[in-house]
Amino acid sequence: MTNRGFCVWLTGLPSAGKTTIAKHLLPLLRQGGWEVELLDGDEVRKGLSADLGFGREARETHAARVAYVAKVLARNDVIPIVALISPYASSRARARSEIGRFVEVYVSTPIGECEKRDVKGLYQKARAGLVKEMTGVDDPYEVPEAPEIRVDTIRLSPAESAQHILSELERLGWPIRKPE
Ligand SMILES: Nc1ncnc2c1ncn2[C@@H]1O[C@H](COP(=O)(O)OP(=O)(O)OP(=O)(O)O)[C@@H](O)[C@H]1O
Ligand SMILES: [Mg+2]
Repeated sequence: MTNRGFCVWLTGLPSAGKTTIAKHLLPLLRQGGWEVELLDGDEVRKGLSADLGFGREARETHAARVAYVAKVLARNDVIPIVALISPYASSRARARSEIGRFVEVYVSTPIGECEKRDVKGLYQKARAGLVKEMTGVDDPYEVPEAPEIRVDTIRLSPAESAQHILSELERLGWPIRKPE
C-alpha cells in the first residue's frame, strides 16, 4: 500500500453528465497505468445503498457509504471516480476530509439544459408531481463554492470534458501517470 491513489468526485444535478464523463475519464486514467473503479450513485443504490430513500438523511448516508468505499480504494492505489449528485456541501466536505486525497469536480450544467436532457425522464415526472424529492426541482442542490475543477458541458463534448479533467488534474499536480 503506497497511498498514492486519489479520488475524483463528480458532483452535479441529475442529467448534468456525471456518468457519461466518468466513463470517458476511466480509460484516460487507465492509460496512465492506474487501476480505476467507477462508483456510480445509481449502481451503488442497487446494492450497498438499496435500503435508502432520497430524503436528506438518506442522501447523506448514501454519500458517506460511497466516500468510505472510495477511501478504501484510494489507499490501495486504485483511483475511484465517483459520479454522485451529492447535493449537500456538508456531505462533500465530509467525503473530502475522510478520503484526504480528494478532487472535487463540479459538472456545472445549468438546470435548464439538464431538464432538456432528462436522461431518465425524472424532471418531467417531478414537474408533474409524480416523483418527490427530485434534486433541482423540490430538493436543493448546493453549488460547490470552491471545486478544484469545473466542467462546462455546454461548451465541451463528453470526450472533451474528460480530457479537460485530465489536463486540470495534471496542472494541479495530481499524478495522472502512476509513479513507478
Ligand atoms: N459534455 C458533456 N458531458 C457529459 N454529458 C453530455 C455532454 N454533452 C451532452 N451530454 C449528454 O448529457 C446526458 C448526461 O447524462 P448522464 O447520465 O451522464 O448524467 P448524470 O449526471 O449521470 O445524471 P444522474 O445524476 O441522473 O445519474 C447524456 O445524454 C450525454 O450524452
Ligand atoms: Mg449518472
